[in-house]
Amino acid sequence: MRMTDRDVRLGDMEIDPGKMYTLRELAEEFQVSERTLTRKLETQELRGYKVGAQWRIKGRDWMSFSGVVQGPHVYVVANAKGGAGKSTFTANLAVLRAQEGRRVLLLDLDPQGHLATLLRMPVDPSRTTAQLLDEELRLGRTHPQFQERWRTLWTDLLQPIPHEGADDALGRVFLVPAHNDLQDLERANFHRTKPVEYALKEAIAALSTVNPDIDEIWIDTPPNLGPLTRNALMAGHSLLSPFAKSDLGLDGLERLMSLVEQYLEFNPYLRIAGLAMNFGNPRTIMHGEIRETIRQRPQLAPYLLEAYVSEAERFNQAPRLGLPLVLAEPNSVSANELRAVLAEVMQRAE
Ligand SMILES: Nc1ncnc2c1ncn2[C@@H]1O[C@H](COP(=O)(O)OP(=O)(O)OP(=O)(O)O)[C@@H](O)[C@H]1O
Ligand SMILES: [Mg+2]
Repeated sequence: MRMTDRDVRLGDMEIDPGKMYTLRELAEEFQVSERTLTRKLETQELRGYKVGAQWRIKGRDWMSFSGVVQGPHVYVVANAKGGAGKSTFTANLAVLRAQEGRRVLLLDLDPQGHLATLLRMPVDPSRTTAQLLDEELRLGRTHPQFQERWRTLWTDLLQPIPHEGADDALGRVFLVPAHNDLQDLERANFHRTKPVEYALKEAIAALSTVNPDIDEIWIDTPPNLGPLTRNALMAGHSLLSPFAKSDLGLDGLERLMSLVEQYLEFNPYLRIAGLAMNFGNPRTIMHGEIRETIRQRPQLAPYLLEAYVSEAERFNQAPRLGLPLVLAEPNSVSANELRAVLAEVMQRAE
């Protein structure tokens, strides 16, 4: 269960990651009852140490706890199979959320960098998700300029989408694009001191402390279950998996679901918010067949969304306009279908 704003309110105190705090200090500063925190400590949602009868909480543990509680909701779009519609869904759903008034950050974890292509954003190789993960891995939390360094880096990385003459919603969308460099991280499984898989989670926790204006994050992932997708699963709250009608074997989804099960141990906040069919066409036999196959698999059946997105040529034209389809053709069948998928995802994410 995710805590709501009512459970904890963020105080103004700068938390020193290396320092130990008492329960009372944190409770008073963050206006939360000591009993609530004690419960969180007992259920190990919040890590702490007992000194006699008193709890002591390390600054960094408090930061990752309150980062999850307070930080932006993180949506992960993943499927181990290529061409399922991950990038298309990520860009379009994020923009729809911005139209609803949310401030949205798009993070591209796929070295192919399709989000920038879809939004027609130039990519500066020194301002990408590679820097983000790299900085996290190099900069220790006990570094004296930890907060300052993150403030500078995030400010530099958050790139607004140009939106002259386009929908205002784009003014609420930011992108950290991907670059080929990311492949290096894909190969390096372990950093000297810690598993690479935690890097994104920690970077997002740092974002919440230096720039609390982002309401949610949408992450696009590569078509595999390597370290980059794992970083996303470690940081995510809601997982959405588009799948292609033609992917009758469904092994990409099944492998992903097995991985999610393993990751729940490390990230208990992760929920599957839906499996969404893409390239649908109810007039074909395959459409019905794949839905039936999913319904028969207990690992997948509970997550199949009613809404689906039909195969439509306009998806291949929209990128030429440099706009996600929901903005290029807001009244099209495809845009309506994407809105229906989003509505179902939101229902399940909440
Ligand atoms: N419903 C659809 N109808 C027709 N074409 C579509 C549809 N959805 C996506 N496409 C097109 O299919 C291609 C693959 O989509 P997309 O890039 O979103 O998939 P992906 O899962 O991100 O792929 P990759 O695994 O390579 O990153 C793109 O050219 C996209 O424009
Ligand atoms: Mg993609």
